[in-house]
Amino acid sequence: MGFLLTLCNGASPAEENGLFVVNGPKGRVTLRDLEPEVIAALHRLAPPGADEDALADAVGAIGNGALPRWFYYLDRLTRRGLIGRSAHESGTRLATLFAVSPAFAWKPVRPAPDRQYALSRFAYLRREGNEGVVESPQSHARLVLQESRAARLIGALAAPATPAELAERSGLTTEGATGLLALLLRAEMASEAGTEPEDPDLRTWAFHDLLFHTRSRKGRSDAPYGGTYRFAGQFPPPPAVKPVPVGDRVPLFKPDIRALERTDPPLAWVQEHRRSVREFDTTQPITVAQVGEFLFRVNRVKEQRETELQTVRGPVVMDFVSRPYPTGGSLYELEIYAAVRTCDGLTPGLYAHDPVAHRLVRVRGRGPAVDELLGDAAESTAIPAGELQVLFVLAARVPRVAWKYESIAYALVLKHVGVVYQTMYLAATAMGLAGCAVGGGDADLFARAAGVPYAAETSVGEFLLGSKRGEPARDARE
Ligand SMILES: Cc1cc2nc3c(=O)[nH]c(=O)nc-3n(C[C@H](O)[C@H](O)[C@H](O)COP(=O)(O)O)c2cc1C
Repeated sequence: MGFLLTLCNGASPAEENGLFVVNGPKGRVTLRDLEPEVIAALHRLAPPGADEDALADAVGAIGNGALPRWFYYLDRLTRRGLIGRSAHESGTRLATLFAVSPAFAWKPVRPAPDRQYALSRFAYLRREGNEGVVESPQSHARLVLQESRAARLIGALAAPATPAELAERSGLTTEGATGLLALLLRAEMASEAGTEPEDPDLRTWAFHDLLFHTRSRKGRSDAPYGGTYRFAGQFPPPPAVKPVPVGDRVPLFKPDIRALERTDPPLAWVQEHRRSVREFDTTQPITVAQVGEFLFRVNRVKEQRETELQTVRGPVVMDFVSRPYPTGGSLYELEIYAAVRTCDGLTPGLYAHDPVAHRLVRVRGRGPAVDELLGDAAESTAIPAGELQVLFVLAARVPRVAWKYESIAYALVLKHVGVVYQTMYLAATAMGLAGCAVGGGDADLFARAAGVPYAAETSVGEFLLGSKRGEPARDARE
């Protein structure tokens, strides 16, 4: 079982001023003082590559410590993802394993012919460009498939199988199947079946949780990360403020913030007394003025401005707003909707908050969709549905964040939800209202209720608000 050593697509080895430089799409390695035989061996790595053992023999023949140096060069090129190992059948590549982080070091693994192996529950196959790739949030490497039989072997690994059984089920030779399996074992994408029970901590991680975590944090991914403005030059940035939807408009009360600065309870008191309150005063529901004050404190647009930004893809004009809570990149992608069941002064239904004019826009009357949104929140909080007053739904215009940020866009959105939740809790406490965050909701139901396209704007959080039992209701207009 031997592997082909091969350069990644787009990597170009070149001699520059006496140095040997390998430039690739995701890294660069400079090697110096190389023997001509080593340079010749490096040139043989161009796809489809050359047999790893044959190259080692050729370099080893130089003597004088050339072989350990060769392995050192290969290690550096491997960790930068510039070279990979291909499992093959008579020189035809089946799949190639590349590092996605410098933590990946190559060590050969030899599958035993009489043992059974199975795919990791974290491994998955997807298309990238014109290639199939196998990845896993547990792995520091990516397997690029070059042959459809390699994909069949991945499928065959869903159930425990020996190398010979895998060969039979995939149409590969035992040699080819064993080589491919060795790459999967090395990448921690497969393991021996039924040996060690899964580590108890790892067991708690669902596939999607670990994938989201590893792909939105640095460490085991080679994807571009952070503010790359990847769509600059392709289409304009989605606006800071969404166009106001069609519907009846309800102007909202605007409190005097300067007066509140003098009369509000101190921050330390608010922080100490903040609680999730799941009991509402059904005799005296929340008022539209209180909803107005609450949304003014939490969500209003305080300022709008336009800025020309210098991005790696050229200058871009982008508009920004300022609101009472912070967001990454000052992007403010969250929209707030109010599903109203009972509120003094507001007809039940679903409303969008227009944060610039500070008004509500009625996007749907009371009906099954709004009732289902409220019912969902009632179930999550164990509050009888008939006692709910107002449910705020936070919906994210994800494209606004993803236009600028790569790898972290959705993670940022969820962080913003947390920021808004706490801002809502503090405002509710200061106002003597009952508030409670809701941990889950139905994004499809919201899309239907609000009539917004799922990919453009999707619900990411919910917060219940109502009048507080036993609390003298503070009239926001006083
Ligand atoms: C992100 C988040 C999600 C929550 N989800 C729910 C929920 O679905 N149902 C519920 O009754 N309470 C929910 N809560 C409220 C918590 O249960 C509550 O904050 C916790 O028990 C601590 O109590 P306290 O808020 O009164 O200090 C949530 C709170 C947060 C911050």
